[in-house]
Amino acid sequence: MRYVVTGGAGFIGSHIAEALAGEHEVVVVDDLSTGHRENIQDFDVEFVEGSVTDLPLLQEIFTGADGVFHQAAIASVPKSVDDPLATHAVNETGTLDVLLAARDAGVKKVVFASSSAVYGEEPTLPKHEGMLPAPVSPYAISKLTGEHYEAVFSKLFGLKTVALRYFNVFGPRQDPSSQYSGVISIFTDRVRAGEAITIHGDGGQTRDFVYVADVVRANLLAMERDVTGVFNIARGQQTDLNTLARGVMEAAGREVPVEYGPVRQGDVRHSLADITRAREVLGWAPEWTLVDGLVETMGWDARGQ
Ligand SMILES: NC(=O)c1ccc[n+]([C@@H]2O[C@H](COP(=O)([O-])OP(=O)(O)OC[C@H]3O[C@@H](n4cnc5c(N)ncnc54)[C@H](O)[C@@H]3O)[C@@H](O)[C@H]2O)c1
Repeated sequence: MRYVVTGGAGFIGSHIAEALAGEHEVVVVDDLSTGHRENIQDFDVEFVEGSVTDLPLLQEIFTGADGVFHQAAIASVPKSVDDPLATHAVNETGTLDVLLAARDAGVKKVVFASSSAVYGEEPTLPKHEGMLPAPVSPYAISKLTGEHYEAVFSKLFGLKTVALRYFNVFGPRQDPSSQYSGVISIFTDRVRAGEAITIHGDGGQTRDFVYVADVVRANLLAMERDVTGVFNIARGQQTDLNTLARGVMEAAGREVPVEYGPVRQGDVRHSLADITRAREVLGWAPEWTLVDGLVETMGWDARGQ
């Protein structure tokens, strides 16, 4: 089979590309805005540097492809608050470009990286796919729009599509280097370096963390199985950031100071997934515990790459 991974030089995309490489022909398209060539240097994939907003390029790359894993995005809530137009261009217009190119090239299926952010301020926990989304950031709007485009392309053009609403994904290769990075990548990087951890707010906010290997398996199942629609991808367990900070220190076997800073705009307070649909329809269940995932993540050093 021939698969395209958009954003395949990034954190999650590179793990998907790695899982496919060897067994399948894999093309990675990435503009390297947050991704890195080093993430895919150790396995056999074709790399094309370019943007998902370049429709003619996508049309060329998608020719002969069986499936597309669409991971490319401006993948940050605060960045989308700072620059909604850029987020719109990449996450909404870029996703439309991916769907158009997939339709035109006769691609069988597109699996799209959506986000738990679409649930937004809806206070009910756990979040399930039947709930009305309530986005509170341009990022969340952009992911919800991507899901709607997918559903409409399925209805209008028969393109098979799946949207996986990832909750908080973590693991090796998650870039800790910017203020927009995922919380576990920042915490592990700081603790490894013996530096203080900063928590935005009181640390009582919760997230549903899921290890990247489980997310890869969800993507592969979504591509292989005769399923369409939206699925939550999480462990179905809630962890607050104070507990997480202690867990990272335990995984590292060292203590660092914990500091508290201002709450970030656009962040939701609590997050917890109902993963019944993924279990029953996709046949997927998380296999990695938070602790095992933290230990594995701790073994990867972004600064020593
Ligand atoms: N990490 C998480 O917890 C999480 C949670 C929910 C959803 N997601 C989604 O999963 C996907 C992957 O996220 P990630 O955590 O691996 O982030 P990442 O930043 O490591 O990966 C995104 C990749 O997309 C590339 N990219 C950005 N704009 C592009 C463009 N215009 N054209 C081509 N490539 C472009 C980047 O260079 C990067 O390699 C994203 O769509 C993100 O929104 C991630």
